[in-house]
Amino acid sequence: MSTVTIKDKEFELFIQSQDITSAVNSMAAQMNAELQSSNPLFLAILNGSFLFAADLLRNIKVECEISFVKLSSYQGMATTGNVSQLIGMNEDVKGRTVVILEDIVDTGITLEKLFVDLERKQAASIKVATLLFKPDAYTGNRNIDYVGIEVPNNFLVGYGLDYDGQGRNLEHIYTLIKK
Ligand code: IMP
Ligand code: MG
Repeated sequence: MSTVTIKDKEFELFIQSQDITSAVNSMAAQMNAELQSSNPLFLAILNGSFLFAADLLRNIKVECEISFVKLSSYQGMATTGNVSQLIGMNEDVKGRTVVILEDIVDTGITLEKLFVDLERKQAASIKVATLLFKPDAYTGNRNIDYVGIEVPNNFLVGYGLDYDGQGRNLEHIYTLIKK
């Protein structure tokens, strides 16, 4: 399928599932090498990162835990600029190595919010892993430790990413066709 229609918008194939898989696998390999004996807590940001988190964690071989927070900043196709926390953190992160898992880092506002929260809760080390990164949209100053694929500043759907709640189930990633 090289194009998909979601609601009023048309999208074309942008990243094939096999390329997603190899990006996820190389991120896992890098983490397996770097996070040995730190017993990291992976903290996946819902909803977007659910597939990435599952595929990544299947390939993580170090002792670890995974948990989820639910944050939301996007409405339709644009960030609202403020982030609401819909499901919070229950774990005690004090003294732990925490690896934030994002589907995509865009402006970085979502990431910043979680970062501040983790610092306040005295995590020992905070790392960031994102499947997709939009360097041209990023306004944050936190280091992104693990990036799967850098992408241009276009609107994407599939593999967890949604347009107005739809399209998260698509196995490939698609980009909006501008008309
Ligand atoms: P940020 O706070 O601007 O970095 O945005 C992060 C969140 O916005 C991501 O976790 C996604 O849920 C959503 N987002 C950003 N860019 C896109 C996109 O191109 N398609 C779908 N969702 C996106
Ligand atoms: Mg997200």
